[in-house]
Amino acid sequence: MARFIMSGGEELKGEISISGAKNAALPIMAATLLSEGDCIIENVPGLKDVRTMSFILRTIGARVEEGKNTLRIIPPQSLHYEVPYELVKTMRASVLVLGPLISRLKKARVSLPGGCAIGVRPINLHLKGLMKLGASIRIKEGYVEAQTSGLKGARIYLDTQSVGATENLIMAATLASGTTYIENAAKEPEIVDLANFLNRMGAKIKNAGSDIIEITGVPNLKGANYTVIPDRIEAGTFMIGCAITGGEVTLRNVRPDHLEAIITKLQEMGVEILSSGEVIHVKGNKELQAVEVKTMPHPGFPTDLQPQIMSLASVCKGTSVITEDIFENRFIHAGELQRMGADIEIKGNTAFVRGVPGLNGASVMASDIRAGAALVIAGLIARPETRISRIYHIDRGYEEIEKKLQILGAKIKRIQ
Ligand code: EPZ
Repeated sequence: MARFIMSGGEELKGEISISGAKNAALPIMAATLLSEGDCIIENVPGLKDVRTMSFILRTIGARVEEGKNTLRIIPPQSLHYEVPYELVKTMRASVLVLGPLISRLKKARVSLPGGCAIGVRPINLHLKGLMKLGASIRIKEGYVEAQTSGLKGARIYLDTQSVGATENLIMAATLASGTTYIENAAKEPEIVDLANFLNRMGAKIKNAGSDIIEITGVPNLKGANYTVIPDRIEAGTFMIGCAITGGEVTLRNVRPDHLEAIITKLQEMGVEILSSGEVIHVKGNKELQAVEVKTMPHPGFPTDLQPQIMSLASVCKGTSVITEDIFENRFIHAGELQRMGADIEIKGNTAFVRGVPGLNGASVMASDIRAGAALVIAGLIARPETRISRIYHIDRGYEEIEKKLQILGAKIKRIQ
């Protein structure tokens, strides 16, 4: 299995371009199942999860032609309605094909995703919403079996602002008869991107990005060309990487308006950040201050940057208080950071991070995409050497992370 070997201590300096957003590309790829024509999707990150979603679309019957950061997805003549456990267990986002399949085929059989390293992650809200739209659902032998004689618009209230449930329900409602309102909807930029793509295909979706999304069903959707938004989590990860090394980095292909929470927190800590158009300039500072962070649905601080900011907090002046309010088990990286010399105390869903002067290299293990990214950030300053194993997790969500870091001057190698 591949590993990263890092020798910390280099300031990150230079310029890189941020890739397309994984968490926008995946639902957009699932949404192509609703189309009757070819779709061309650009700015798609070259990632393991994207390849898994391509494989799922092929299993369902679509043709997927892969170019450099571009996908051409040709709809199948006839769709298969089943997605097996072997695929879903490798990527939970596979469940995003449920909405399009039930809407288009009136039936779907998709394996239930299990829990994962960051929490139990149920899909009850996806299923409750689909039932409101007129699907009958049963769970049999670990699979969700859904069928309908035709979905009908409904008012759906989400008990929790779930990104995946909002996406699945938007997709299911686009071909339903009548109008659907999703209340307490998630407002992440990836939801808006999905809605923009569907509208380009001919859907009628209003107010994505607000609490109540309105979807008026249409009889069919046509093919479309679309460019995925930049990845705000990748951008945030590199901003934190720059901050921890006290470097100076320019990030291109970013949306500063999607990054307000992380920009504000880094500025509070003492990092200088300037943005203009699609460019962000980050300048670290040798002495950064502790911070209070609480993860929340967008526009709050994203849970997908919590592990990375914990690495940064571990070497800031004072005690940072980091509260994880989205997932119940997203502190596994804290144990690994402690092995590198960080001083972290966990009480319930809050981590008290007392800043130490520096981190020591150690052999550590990535447990999910973002926990892995946090270890890479720690590895940027840890001496003499950090060895990170299970980096396949990192590859699921970061396109060529080591190459981008090498461009910025980091000492990081991939060892097979
Ligand atoms: C999406 O996961 C992202 N994945 C995650 O990114 C991200 O961490 C998460 O949103 C939160 O921002 C993709 O977009 C592919 P949720 P999702 O449904 O949709 C609870 C990464 O590293 N919930 O918004 O699965 C759930 O348990 C990943 O890129 C229910 O209770 O997250 C959690 O506490 C990891 N019932 C909260 O809602 C449900 O039916 C938010 O989860 C659904 C969710």
